[in-house]
Amino acid sequence: MYRTHNNGALRLQNIGETVTLSGWVQKTRNKGFMVWVDLRDRYGITQLIFDEERSSKEAMTMASELGREYVIQVTGTVIERESKNPNIATGDIELLVSELQVLNSSLTPPFTIEDDTDGGEDLRMKYRYLDIRRKPVRQNLIFRHKVAMAVRNYLSAKNFVEIETPYLIKSTPEGARDFVVPSRMNAGQFYALPQSPQTFKQLLMVGGMDKYFQIVKCFRDEDLRADRQPEFTQIDCEMAFVEQEDILQAFEGLTRHLLKEINGVEIGAFPRMTYDEAMKKYGNDKPDIRFGMEFGELNEVAQHKDFNVFNQAELVVGIAVPGGNQFTRKEIDELTEWVKRPQVGALGMVYCRYNDDGSLKSSVDKFYDQNDLIQWAKQTGAVPGDLICVLSGDTAKVRSQLSALRMELAQRMGLRKPTVFAPLWVVDFPLLEWDEDTKRYHAMHHPFTSPKPGQMELLKTHPGEVKANAYDLVLNGNEIGGGSIRIHDKEIQSKMFDYLGFTPQEAKAQFGFLMDAFQYGAPPHGGIAFGLDRLVAILGGQETIRDFIAFPKNNAGRDVMIDAPATIHQEQLNELHLKLNLSEN
Ligand code: AMO
Repeated sequence: MYRTHNNGALRLQNIGETVTLSGWVQKTRNKGFMVWVDLRDRYGITQLIFDEERSSKEAMTMASELGREYVIQVTGTVIERESKNPNIATGDIELLVSELQVLNSSLTPPFTIEDDTDGGEDLRMKYRYLDIRRKPVRQNLIFRHKVAMAVRNYLSAKNFVEIETPYLIKSTPEGARDFVVPSRMNAGQFYALPQSPQTFKQLLMVGGMDKYFQIVKCFRDEDLRADRQPEFTQIDCEMAFVEQEDILQAFEGLTRHLLKEINGVEIGAFPRMTYDEAMKKYGNDKPDIRFGMEFGELNEVAQHKDFNVFNQAELVVGIAVPGGNQFTRKEIDELTEWVKRPQVGALGMVYCRYNDDGSLKSSVDKFYDQNDLIQWAKQTGAVPGDLICVLSGDTAKVRSQLSALRMELAQRMGLRKPTVFAPLWVVDFPLLEWDEDTKRYHAMHHPFTSPKPGQMELLKTHPGEVKANAYDLVLNGNEIGGGSIRIHDKEIQSKMFDYLGFTPQEAKAQFGFLMDAFQYGAPPHGGIAFGLDRLVAILGGQETIRDFIAFPKNNAGRDVMIDAPATIHQEQLNELHLKLNLSEN
């Protein structure tokens, strides 16, 4: 038997017991006549002690030769520690070792296996298996497991059935590029890895499995960000015989359950906001509502003077930064430079100080008097002590720039508190989105999303104004889930493909199976998918999903540990009927 206990288990009540432990050597301290070893495993650390008088000579010698990360097995007696360590669960005791066996040696690890390691990101990714030995990473993985289990238990208790869908499929449009897999048996043909199980879950509804879920890998070939990985996990769900309200209730229930179970936080009914309102108030369809700084539109109170920058703008809009009047001139200049960075792209920033005595002082004083500025304060909700920051330009751009500024300020001012949870539903998304590159409308969510009742006709005349039965669940400024009520009528679905620019032949080739299925009694249905990685990260008080994935990809989409992607042998290429045509660059 390798162990009688794990390294987090022993307490004062075990004193006098003979036990066997196994684990990794965290560190050793050698005083010559005494050697201490910290023995680590998944469960914790236990201090081992070897001394000249009580341990065997052989064990003493071996102990003094142990290196970091050696795997050892020890047997000994649990004794009370002279100097206790309140920082660890086993800190009252130590193990006086009589027998030591080295199960495996180890090279010196390339970084320290400590909570605060000296290893940089790249190194830790390359040796991810060592990184996983570190407590913060280990705890994140265990946390992820807890969340996934809570999701499974909850949905299963509500009569949802977990059903697996295939990975080797053909393109499901979710807006990203597909990862493709060449077929050996079908020369010149390719599978696509699912961007989501969207079409299959709809087919399961046709199949009568009226409450489906699946914790499932999805694959999207898109640029990486802190909240995006090329392969990620969804909690994918679908229900039949439901309206939007049923779905919102069901999955608000799941989210509320998770917040309670995992974080001990009780939250009442989630607020709901239309897409239009979210864009107007926060410049963003995933607003962080843990703090204020709502947008105040200033066209009416800023476009009547000679300040041409504002007069020419489609939208003049500002936010009141609480207590921001304390910012020095230098700090404000630095903020101005921040919004002018190419990533944000504003041309400049106008500001107005709201002094404690009630007077207002703006950076464009030439053009605006106190009465004007009072109106600015009114529109942005500013009070004495605040700073009003104003941007102007094209509506969509300026909203996104001010939203970036709002989030940056909140971050700097510590308003994005990781232990405060503010979920909300954003509803009534536009059905279509204009794409400048292709000069045509695309489905904003996906082409199976149903327009709001009665809006089908608008499609012909004002396609950009049509709203969809689509909703997102937003938590702390992150989109953690999104879904819609689907089209279940073959005619409407064909019309939709037509509007989206698919020829009938293309629609048939790509989605014929779905249209066929819809001829055999498709029930009304709808669903949602949560991003599990994002949900876990946010419940865990963080936003970088990589930290909650055992083996993530780096920013270039590479797994640097196994060194993938990689080239393949010529024979393999031949078998797959592939010929590479790599240009020099
Ligand atoms: P959607 O594309 O909105 O919807 O995806 C659902 C959720 O998945 C998460 N997500 C990601 N997480 C990490 N890395 C990525 N690259 C990534 N892309 C998306 C987000 C998002 O809210 N089939 C529809 C769902 C439906 O209509 O039922 C779908 O996939 O948290």
